[in-house]
Amino acid sequence: MTSTSIDDLDLTNAELYRGGFPHEIFTRLRAEAPVWWQQTPVALRDEAADDGFWVLSRHADVQAANRDPELFTAFEGPSLVNRPEMHGAMLVSMDGRDHTRQRKLISAGFTPRMVGRLEEQMRRWSAKIIDAALARGDCDFVPDAAYLLPMHMIADIVGIPESDRAWLFGITNDFLAAGDPSRGLTRDEQMVIQAQMFEYARKLGEDKRRNPQDDVWTILSTVEIDGDDGAKTRLGEVELDLFFLLLTVAGSETTRNAITLGLHALLGDPEQMALLRREPQAIPVAVEEMIRWSSPVSYFARRATRDTEIRGVKIAAGERITLWYPSANRDADVFRDPFRFDARRTPNEHVAFGGGGPHFCLGANLARREMITFFEELFRRTSTIEQTGPLAFAPLGIFNSILVAPQSLPVRLA
Ligand code: HEM
Repeated sequence: MTSTSIDDLDLTNAELYRGGFPHEIFTRLRAEAPVWWQQTPVALRDEAADDGFWVLSRHADVQAANRDPELFTAFEGPSLVNRPEMHGAMLVSMDGRDHTRQRKLISAGFTPRMVGRLEEQMRRWSAKIIDAALARGDCDFVPDAAYLLPMHMIADIVGIPESDRAWLFGITNDFLAAGDPSRGLTRDEQMVIQAQMFEYARKLGEDKRRNPQDDVWTILSTVEIDGDDGAKTRLGEVELDLFFLLLTVAGSETTRNAITLGLHALLGDPEQMALLRREPQAIPVAVEEMIRWSSPVSYFARRATRDTEIRGVKIAAGERITLWYPSANRDADVFRDPFRFDARRTPNEHVAFGGGGPHFCLGANLARREMITFFEELFRRTSTIEQTGPLAFAPLGIFNSILVAPQSLPVRLA
């Protein structure tokens, strides 16, 4: 790459991400062109909303854009794909009052009692998953461990019966992997999967309303808050369907990637692994570093609502911008020795959950708690963990904001 001109770069090429996030390219962008224009290749023009987009790669710019929703609207959603039916329809694609209302309704589902219960469930699932992997000895850490905890936690929150989980999260995975050129699904095939997920969510909501249970989905299917006009407001059926899609995707794939890449970093640095085994109280700080290190969400897109300028580069009203979180999280202006995984790093002002704007990750504390519990149980229950094969990734395509996901990490647990 270093010999290639920056003008020849094509960040939409899925192959760039086959070996993980291409940090060397973004290090160059941060230095040479921190506000850079990516033209949309002709082959993607039908699917993309625009003929190009701005790429923000520095921490300060990502954070500032993320915190200015009036200048950079989220209305068209976080992906570069053109999906008018999603505009303003999902939490991630709402602005202003609509967004505040929906966040308030959703937060009402996460009562302190519910969150306390989640803690117990996390520990129980972590122990069960790790013991099963231990019994096997040799396993693939991604499907056999990292995949399972976030999946069961989201399913417990939503109240998805255990018997439905393998099927439902199987199709969620297919939906997410649709952009991988080696697995590519047609748009119609993707729509069929999405329809199956919605149908499932609708049926689940109906079941909960008929037969209320002690779970978040029951609360979300019934909760009411005061609207702006003083009248009661609740989540409509379509809002619930879309939130279901968001939760199953946002809550499972991201945390799984952070767990996998966190363990992988420790496998490459036995001293830091030994430190965490010796001092479990150091795990929360290490988990924050795993989240910075892995930055599971690659980019979120926004659109400029008026003409503006960043670092002297003119951005016109109506142009698309993209905020690159993994790049911001390797910015040497903010992080000392950013390419070193440092389990003791403090402060750690990463933007992996967003830059502190109104869309800041709703699941940030859940993801942190899941990871802390998982690594506590992992170190308590194992004496050695050895990597027995290469870490492999799947590129998910430019229209999936996650862009790249670890697929396989063979390990031996003892
Ligand atoms: C390590 C794991 C995770 C990472 C790195 C992550 C990252 C992110 C990022 C970057 C955003 C966008 C923030 C912004 O635009 O300012 C986001 C939003 C969101 N996340 Fe997460 N997330 C994780 C886990 C979770 C979990 C476990 C859940 C579910 C319980 C979740 C639910 C959401 C939701 C609902 C939003 C949309 C919030 C809004 O638009 O107001 N995330 N997340």
